[in-house]
Amino acid sequence: MVGAPRTEVTAMAQDMKSPKSPKALKRNRSTVTHKVGYALTHPGRVAPYLRRAARDTWLRLKHPDHVGYYRAVMASDTRRNPEAAVGSQTHERWLALGQMQFDYLVEHGLRPEHRMLDIGCGNLRGGWRFIDYLDTGHYYGIDISPDILIAAKKTLVERGIQDKLPHLTLTGDLTLDFLPGDHFDVVHAHSVFSHSPREVIEECLAHVGRVLTDTGFFDFTFDRTEGTEHQVLGEDFYYRTETLLSLARKHGLHARFMDDWEQRPHGQSKIRVSRSPLPGSDDHDEPARHRQPVTGPAA
Ligand SMILES: C[S@@+](CC[C@H](N)C(=O)[O-])C[C@H]1O[C@@H](n2cnc3c(N)ncnc32)[C@H](O)[C@@H]1O
Repeated sequence: MVGAPRTEVTAMAQDMKSPKSPKALKRNRSTVTHKVGYALTHPGRVAPYLRRAARDTWLRLKHPDHVGYYRAVMASDTRRNPEAAVGSQTHERWLALGQMQFDYLVEHGLRPEHRMLDIGCGNLRGGWRFIDYLDTGHYYGIDISPDILIAAKKTLVERGIQDKLPHLTLTGDLTLDFLPGDHFDVVHAHSVFSHSPREVIEECLAHVGRVLTDTGFFDFTFDRTEGTEHQVLGEDFYYRTETLLSLARKHGLHARFMDDWEQRPHGQSKIRVSRSPLPGSDDHDEPARHRQPVTGPAA
């Protein structure tokens, strides 16, 4: 075995039991002090972590650009277990995480006639439920990993939803330039920016407004810190809420922190961006060109 499953890496990096406790939100997992402290209290996780760190160092040498590197990480992880590659240690958890994504969007107004773009769709953990629910041809999934897209096709077959004719497309960047403008009612990126450096997130935020309809929105999750922004192994990235809200507003988007997602049993937080102010939004939603950045709930 080359390394531990992804969830063990993040276990090394974060407190799995309470990732949003005030203490966990301040933690800088990239520091030597944190790593030594963690190793002393979780000795069993040291060897898998070191194996993964060695593999990732090798992959980074072979692929200096982030997308190439992360594609190689996904290839290696998917070979062993596609469900673990998208972050679910067990099939039950894979099902539950997909259900959580689906329930949230339906509660927030997703309708069968909507057109949806799922960025970093993985092996359709949430995607198969969206495909099943949406009208034929209304789901568009993109991913940087050919290996996970092959696994996605297997999920389609297992679920018997081939008739819904979803689009599954490999991408090398997030300019979204091959997609039509004013098209998608819902754009979604679950557990993608948690694995993305700032330039990848900014590329997406700079272009997503073009493909959204005027009433559409883009929901993305992120690993939140209230301390120093940091990353672990080039795989897990921790951002302050205000950083991402400001980045969205810089590109003329309205952006808000989704408080109600915090109630779900999930370690990440969620931000919603849109071209126009959305129902229920307040002046904290304004793009930067209209107002000064505000302090988000997590900052
Ligand atoms: C943790 S998995 C989550 C997959 C899916 N969203 C889910 O919730 O099951 C992250 C996925 O995002 C993809 N990914 C990472 N960076 C990406 C990028 N810049 N553009 C598109 N996909 C990306 C990975 O290949 C992987 O399939």
